Order: sequence, then C-alpha cells, then structure tokens
Amino acid sequence: MQITYNLKSASERRSEAFEPKENVGFGELRTDHMFLMDFSDGQWHNPRVVPYAPFEVAPGAIALHYGQSVFEGAKAFRHNDEEIYTFRLDKNAERLNRSADILCMEGVPEVMQLAGIEALIDVDRLWFPLQEDACLYIRPFIFATEDRLSVSPSEQYTFCVILSPSGPYYNDGFSKAIRLLISKRFHRAVSGGTGASKASGNYAASLKAGKVAAEYGAAQVLYLDASNQQIEEVGAMNHFHILKDGTVIIPTFTDTILKSITSESILDLGELLGCEVRQETVWLDKFIQDIESGGIIEAGGFGTAAVVAPVGSYIFEDRRVLTVGDGAVGKHTKRIYQVLTDIQKGHISGPKNWLR
Ligand code: COI
Repeated sequence: MQITYNLKSASERRSEAFEPKENVGFGELRTDHMFLMDFSDGQWHNPRVVPYAPFEVAPGAIALHYGQSVFEGAKAFRHNDEEIYTFRLDKNAERLNRSADILCMEGVPEVMQLAGIEALIDVDRLWFPLQEDACLYIRPFIFATEDRLSVSPSEQYTFCVILSPSGPYYNDGFSKAIRLLISKRFHRAVSGGTGASKASGNYAASLKAGKVAAEYGAAQVLYLDASNQQIEEVGAMNHFHILKDGTVIIPTFTDTILKSITSESILDLGELLGCEVRQETVWLDKFIQDIESGGIIEAGGFGTAAVVAPVGSYIFEDRRVLTVGDGAVGKHTKRIYQVLTDIQKGHISGPKNWLR
C-alpha cells in the first residue's frame, strides 16, 4: 500500500516530547494528523496521512441517517527503549471487520489497517504524553458516505484513524471502585441484533441509560439480557466477577455481547495471573445471592479504554444497593490490572506478538 503524506508544516506540528502540565484525560486531545482511505468502485484507494481537520461529508450520507458506521478502540504504549508499541492491534483490525460485516459494510483488509495506523503513529509519535498511565488511544472507524436516502448498504465508505493522547478513562483511574446500575428497563442488545459489533448506534442507544445511571450515582449500566435473567456487559466494557478462591468469571460471549480484547487477553493469561479464568452464563439471581453470601468477593469491567475498572457496588432501580466484598478495590483485581498493564508497558513479557 502506497501511503501519501500531506503533513502540517514543521512550525505547526508538535516538535518536542509532550510533557503535559496537568494530567491528560481520556479522549480529549488529538494529534496533528489523521489517516484516511476511501472505498468506491469496489476497492479501497487513496491511503493518506493528512492534517487533523473536519472533512466534507454529503448531507445525505448513509452513515448520518441510517447509522452505517463502526469503530474500534486500541492503545499504544511507550516503552523504556523509547519506542511506541501497539497492543494486539491485529485483534482490533479483525474485530473492526467483524463489526463491518454485521452492518453489511465493506471491511478494510487487516494489513491495510495496520499499515495506516502505524504510519500515523510514526508521524505523530511526539504526541505520546510523558505521564504515568498514559497511552496513545487509537480510534479507527469506517462510515458510509454514499449520498442516498433509500435503505440499503452504501457502496462508498471512508476509513479514518485518529489518535488521542490519553490518561485513564475514569477520572480516579484504577484507585476507586465504581458503582453500576443494574437495570431491568434498559437493554443494550437482543439476540439477532448488532450487540456483538462495535456499531456506533449501539453507543448512541446507551446514552439515555447512561444518563439515568448517573442519576443513581452510578458510572454506567450493567446490562442484562432481554429476559432480565442473565448478566451481559457494561457497554463500554465487558463484566467480570471473582469467586472466593480467586477464579475469574466472564459472561460467555454471545451475539449480544461485544467480545472485549481485554477479556480475551485475561482469558489467555491464566497462568501468568496465577488463577483460573473462565466463561459461563451468569444468572442474575445467583450473582446477587453469591455477593450476599460472600461467594463473590470482587467484580469489575474489562475494556480497552477502561483497562480494568473495579466495581465496588451495584444499585437497582428500587435503589437497593449491593456491595461487593468491602466495596474497595480487591487484591485479585489489583493483580490482574498490574499484570496486564505491565505487559502493555513492556515491564514484563507477555505472550508472543501481543506488542508491535
Ligand atoms: C474502548 O474501550 O476502546 C471503547 O471503545 C469504549 C468506549 C470508550 C466507547
């Protein structure tokens, strides 16, 4: 793939390592450039790195009306050798195409995705924030650009990648356990729908629920299946809980759950973590009973942006509160977070080919 470069002039670009005065938040900042590529006449063409700027989209573009749009979230880390390493980017590329397929969109060959992202990071590498727990958050997305109002798959798309120098997703980072609202009123997905994809519309559909969660003092909603019997996921992350003997349980991936690459990594890491990690159907009634009896001692969420988010308590729509253990961040959750982030930062070595 021959990438063309139209770069900002040297005086407009970051020219020295980024040493933020204040802690950088998640997703707020952008780097100088973005990667773009277009699909039309049955092929991807014109891969290019250009200045980060608004682009032209037809007011009738299918993405704007019918939501034919999917995205990814990946991260890159700076190691002691001063190089920047992406974490499991091939898995994100694969998942973007899986999402595209669910929405009847044109996927982007994985090698093209990786080449485009790496070219962009290379150009904007000085934007990596020199701050503890910082990363370059990578946001690739594909959206339908054909200017047509009939409802059928677009024949034109844009693939775009932007970068965000970021700190932790939750303001308190890993230090404070969050609360989740267990809602029987809001549902994220039903079987046969788009729940297993990272479709933009899935996130739009979660906004109202997120607003209600905040009214309950909760960070997000823990979604149940449509029959309100099983625990599914959190929307911005998968869910997990930990049994008294340290076993980590992640709900079985179904077509209503987005397969988190962080969850998959934790499943793969069993031995390094020193505990069993497995998937099973998580029944709400049993989950509540086990928390109340002390059989479940920790819980949380796994996701790229959030990494490992400890959950200290749940609240129900009748305002009943369920506290996990003593409500604080538990030792098993701490260990999982430590091992995963140590691998990402290159402090310990993880499985082969996780870092590029
Ligand atoms: C991620 O974990 O990367 C996500 O995409 C979640 C969220 C910020 C939408």
